[in-house]
Amino acid sequence: MKIILMGGPGAGKGTQAGPLVEKFHFPHISTGDMFRAAIKDGTALGLKAKSYMDAGGLVPDEVTIGIVAERLAQPDCAEGFLLDGFPRTLAQGNALNEILDRLGMKLDGVINIEVAEDVLIPRLTGRRVCRKCGASYHMIFNPPQQEGVCGQCGGELYQRSDDTVETAKNRLNVYNDQTEPLINFYQQQGLLKRINGDQPIDKVFADILKALG
Ligand code: AP5
Ligand code: ZN
Repeated sequence: MKIILMGGPGAGKGTQAGPLVEKFHFPHISTGDMFRAAIKDGTALGLKAKSYMDAGGLVPDEVTIGIVAERLAQPDCAEGFLLDGFPRTLAQGNALNEILDRLGMKLDGVINIEVAEDVLIPRLTGRRVCRKCGASYHMIFNPPQQEGVCGQCGGELYQRSDDTVETAKNRLNVYNDQTEPLINFYQQQGLLKRINGDQPIDKVFADILKALG
């Protein structure tokens, strides 16, 4: 299965990626996670990405397209993959089509998790993420059993530096300007599957499975 998970910031892409990977055993390719790992490791890529991410803007296309092209060419992606947070611009969408053509691959579907803007901001500002395994929690909607501790691995929970109200609003504006046009792009290719993301997490997952057939 080769699929893309789309949706605004905080729509639930990372949350749904967990059970999807458990079910389909494909690599989870999150450009956001790749950038955060590079920042943590202090690599050249991390240095490039940091200022854009801190401002809630997008990392330049040429940087992002390059790392995804490299990742998709690895052998573990041959049977399937889950792209999360990529593509995010029409240029990235066109580049992805070229990359997949070159690799002789075809997408099975593009899942768009749809959530209204006024729901997204509180989701972002209340989010807490595990430092060790990356699992995502929410102070109100999906709290950990023990405050500040990951229920899956015992790791410490932290708040992402781009989850402040101001940066979250910027990310939403950037999404509306640059990423939303991809919905039409994939609709025209007959790949788009729209999912109501403003439902309990399990129900969203069940709807995604149904849409994937
Ligand atoms: P990235 O990490 O991709 O951030 P994002 O797209 O803004 O998405 P998020 O991770 O914030 O949200 P999500 O949809 O995964 O939500 P989650 O499941 O955690 O990118 C970060 C930055 O990196 C970008 O701003 C950009 O600078 C850069 N970048 C990344 N990719 C790029 C690219 N392709 N090009 C250029 N730059 C790029 O859920 C959110 C919260 O809601 C959680 O607390 C969760 O517990 C809760 N929640 C989830 N589902 C539900 C539900 N159904 N009901 C109630 N609560 C829920
Ligand atoms: Zn954890």
